[in-house]
Amino acid sequence: MGLALVRGILTVAPEIAPHLVVSSREAGSLRERIRGLDVRVAETNLEAVKGAQLVVLAVKPQILPSVLAQVKDALAPGTTVVSIAAGVPTTVLEEGLGPGIGVVRAMPNVAASVQASATAIARGKTTRPVDLERARSLLSTVGMVVEVDEELMDAVTGLSGTGPLYLFLILEGLSDAGVKVGLSRATSTELAIQTLVGAAQLVRATGEHPAKLRDLVTSPGGTAITALHSLEKSGLKAMLLDAVEAATKRSQELGAKWRPRPPGELPGH
Ligand SMILES: NC(=O)c1ccc[n+]([C@@H]2O[C@H](COP(=O)([O-])OP(=O)(O)OC[C@H]3O[C@@H](n4cnc5c(N)ncnc54)[C@H](OP(=O)(O)O)[C@@H]3O)[C@@H](O)[C@H]2O)c1
Repeated sequence: MGLALVRGILTVAPEIAPHLVVSSREAGSLRERIRGLDVRVAETNLEAVKGAQLVVLAVKPQILPSVLAQVKDALAPGTTVVSIAAGVPTTVLEEGLGPGIGVVRAMPNVAASVQASATAIARGKTTRPVDLERARSLLSTVGMVVEVDEELMDAVTGLSGTGPLYLFLILEGLSDAGVKVGLSRATSTELAIQTLVGAAQLVRATGEHPAKLRDLVTSPGGTAITALHSLEKSGLKAMLLDAVEAATKRSQELGAKWRPRPPGELPGH
């Protein structure tokens, strides 16, 4: 994810390259991984954040508290810190970094690696408009960005964070289906991909509710109504509703460990 962001920034705003600094646990292996990209690799996280206006934390959630402790004292007041760690609330960031730092929590998805992420951002208690603006301009280099209330971040995780999985499965199914009715695998997959992209573009371009577009392509006695009958019998829409709801619940469960426990409650309860 961190690398996807670096690539996005370098593509959209290459003039920023001289100001970009990256770090990981081991500078040598990071240099190898980003070979060919015009960015400076710092030896430590502390060195990376010194003098920074905007810091992005793209480590795994369980590692985040230790990284917050490492960089805390090197951050100047007014710095914006964006965390993309799934499930980690802004309160943990705010407590870990102390006053004067504006935190933004973000949930991109894997399509950030091709600059087509659907990303949501949420503010914390002390986030200023400039923090949101910085986060938005950074994350928009890898796709679209919407702001939501933090309490909706689990829903975002269920829908767009996990969403590529649903569509990979649908694409796999359509590709198999094309093969079943006689197309080559390559032709079937290409047609399925373009159909998915084209349908999404049509919904966006017209601004219509998908159900209205579905109705438009459903002619009496035709193929669409016949296929629709089959899909309704299989309960495709109910399956998607179930999947997003289940992923949202799982995200809530995973995030529960970050919430303060009422006095006397034991861990894991
Ligand atoms: N992948 C997704 O689709 C996705 C979507 C939404 C949100 N996220 C969030 O994005 C974050 C990163 O996910 P990812 O999939 O990119 O994971 P990843 O591929 O494992 O990347 C994590 C990076 O953190 C570095 N790292 C580990 N310990 C570190 C430390 N102490 N200091 C500095 N860097 C350290 C690792 O490099 P070294 O091992 O070289 O240190 C690695 O480059 C996670 O919090 C995840 O929840 C991911």
